[in-house]
Amino acid sequence: MARIIYVNGRYQPYAKASIHVEDRGFQFSDGVYEVCFIHNGKIVDLTGHLERLDRSLFELRMAPPMKRPALVHVLNETVRRNHIRNGSAYLQVTRGAARRAFTFPSKDIGSSLICMARPHDERKNNALAAKGICVQTVPDIRWARRDIKSISLLPQMLASQTALDQGCAEALMVDDKGFITEGSHSNAWMVDKDNRLLTRRADNSILRGRTRQAVVATIKKLGLKFEERAFSVDEALAASEVFVTSTTALLMPVIEVDGRQIGAGVPGDTSIKLRRQICESYGMQKNEWPASP
Ligand code: PDD
Repeated sequence: MARIIYVNGRYQPYAKASIHVEDRGFQFSDGVYEVCFIHNGKIVDLTGHLERLDRSLFELRMAPPMKRPALVHVLNETVRRNHIRNGSAYLQVTRGAARRAFTFPSKDIGSSLICMARPHDERKNNALAAKGICVQTVPDIRWARRDIKSISLLPQMLASQTALDQGCAEALMVDDKGFITEGSHSNAWMVDKDNRLLTRRADNSILRGRTRQAVVATIKKLGLKFEERAFSVDEALAASEVFVTSTTALLMPVIEVDGRQIGAGVPGDTSIKLRRQICESYGMQKNEWPASP
């Protein structure tokens, strides 16, 4: 089936979709993006994603590419044209195409908007969650505004590759004080020996993950112990459980950090319980949840 990509007003076949060589996203990473989860053909938490997109645009002093209802239409239409039942939608907005200059273009050139959607194999994701993943720590070499979902992803890409080179599925990035900021493309969590869930405060040092938000809401609903604070690599190594959250992985248990086993070396009860709750809140059926390890 032909893949269709939305680019600046047109739905085009994958091979034909293109942007201008002087698009500022291409030359300066001057843009922002969102990745949304699609379940049963529906985008989950769409309003939350569009609110975060608006915030990222505002922080970069960029105008929205179109009004909210039109943007929702483009997203849904891209999902529909690609016949996606379960998968993800990717939306990218850049400041547009203009002669290369470090300052903003002097006249309104209009932003560039790209929208894509692709299927995911949820069984694979569930099988991985039932086993748990290994992660590798790396220094966090990013800029100070990690709360902006910018397309400037060079440090995350390098971190992710370093982890893969070590046979790990994700990298945990560590600040200069030895505290974990977040994953290369996920938020980081741990459960301490007191069964308290810890994740870093959503300030400028991390991305305000939509899945992180869904997990916080679930923790509150279940009345679990919870603290928003940074935790160190040593604390993570001594934790009962570690997990990461993101739109595409949902909640992924971590069983090894830097080659050292976490807890019992299998996904912990809290991680499994929270993942099931998230799956349920996204409208998944019980048979789509991960099997117990
Ligand atoms: N990444 N932190 C970083 C650095 C991320 O790139 C992501 C998501 C998250 C989790 O955010 P959310 O729960 O809203 O997906 C945290 C996406 C999935 C990506 O870039 O593909």
